[in-house]
Amino acid sequence: MIMKVPYYVPWITDNDRRNVQKSLKQRWLTDGPFLDKFENKFRQYIDVKFSSGVGSATQALHLSMRALGLSPGDEVIVPTFTFASTANAVLYCGAKPILTDVDSETFNISPKEIVKNITKKTKAIIVVHYGGQSCDMNEILSIGKKYKLKVIEDCAHALGSTFKNKKCGSIGLTGCFSFYPTKIITTGEGGMVTTNDKSILNKVNNLKSQGMSIQAKERETKAVWKYDIIDLGYNYRLDEIRSSLGLSQLNRVTEINQKRIRIAQKYNKLIKKINGLSIPIKKSDRNHIYHLYTIKVEKEYPITRDELFANLFKKGIGTSVQYYPLHLMSLYQQTYKNKKHGFPVANELKDKILCLPIYAQMTDKAIQYVVSNLK
Ligand SMILES: Cc1ncc(COP(=O)(O)O)c(C=O)c1O
Repeated sequence: MIMKVPYYVPWITDNDRRNVQKSLKQRWLTDGPFLDKFENKFRQYIDVKFSSGVGSATQALHLSMRALGLSPGDEVIVPTFTFASTANAVLYCGAKPILTDVDSETFNISPKEIVKNITKKTKAIIVVHYGGQSCDMNEILSIGKKYKLKVIEDCAHALGSTFKNKKCGSIGLTGCFSFYPTKIITTGEGGMVTTNDKSILNKVNNLKSQGMSIQAKERETKAVWKYDIIDLGYNYRLDEIRSSLGLSQLNRVTEINQKRIRIAQKYNKLIKKINGLSIPIKKSDRNHIYHLYTIKVEKEYPITRDELFANLFKKGIGTSVQYYPLHLMSLYQQTYKNKKHGFPVANELKDKILCLPIYAQMTDKAIQYVVSNLK
């Protein structure tokens, strides 16, 4: 019998719905108390001084790049094994993303490869904590210090991830979070910038709101109408409706991550017995919250990754390949064709990896169904 096991199901409770209803009763539907509360709670959870709600992680990354003052000719090192947003944020500023190969165990950007790609033009490194397991932040911060590079954390997968007990998003200059529906918590679309640097926060807040010297909200309480445009900004704000959902979801983040970890442990136990499939490798100095549960389909397995993907689809099981590397995407291919350093790890992963369904309310029956089909 076919059972439907989607790749991801967001977890929305009655309490979430009630909180959204409350936000809709307000007169002021953006830049209001729900955003303040969400930002405050988020900042406390990540253990940083400041946070700023935005419309997506893509926007958080773009604002981080703008806050660094990137300009054409600058280079930023980013992993090739990531979603397009990580590199696009650099391109939006007219600068060049330098795609870099990843580690074969964690699939995180490789510190050795970072060093190979540093030039006089390099300004920053964006790391992605792949699948919910932190990069080696000690190594990366020391590279940053040695070469005077800023380190930005793409935390789209990493709400609750830690490195040596420090939360991801509190280690680099900024942390960039996503609340897309597949992520640890969701606001539909949404994101957050975290930082301990007041001047970065000020730049982010100004740029996300059209570069205006006085925000509309301030004009509610002050008798001033005159404002200036001091920078080329955007409308990248997170409204009250989405903030109310985010706040209510954030109250459950520990429970959500505990559930994901338990599901991953069950998968681990069952899948490691299957010849030809390898389970995610977890490092001992960091946690893993399994935003993604990524297996590798090795050559001992009787069918290829693509065949497995198609067979599971026929059985009603949603899976995904995260990621097909950026250096092979049309937009980037031209630039990376003649690159000196290859991408041996990402090139191998692209044919082997498969991300299995994982979401907080996944049942044992669904786990068993996925595993029995893998078998
Ligand atoms: C690693 C990574 N960075 C950035 C993003 C962009 O997030 P958003 O959809 O919130 O812009 C994603 C989204 O999937 C992602 O996986």
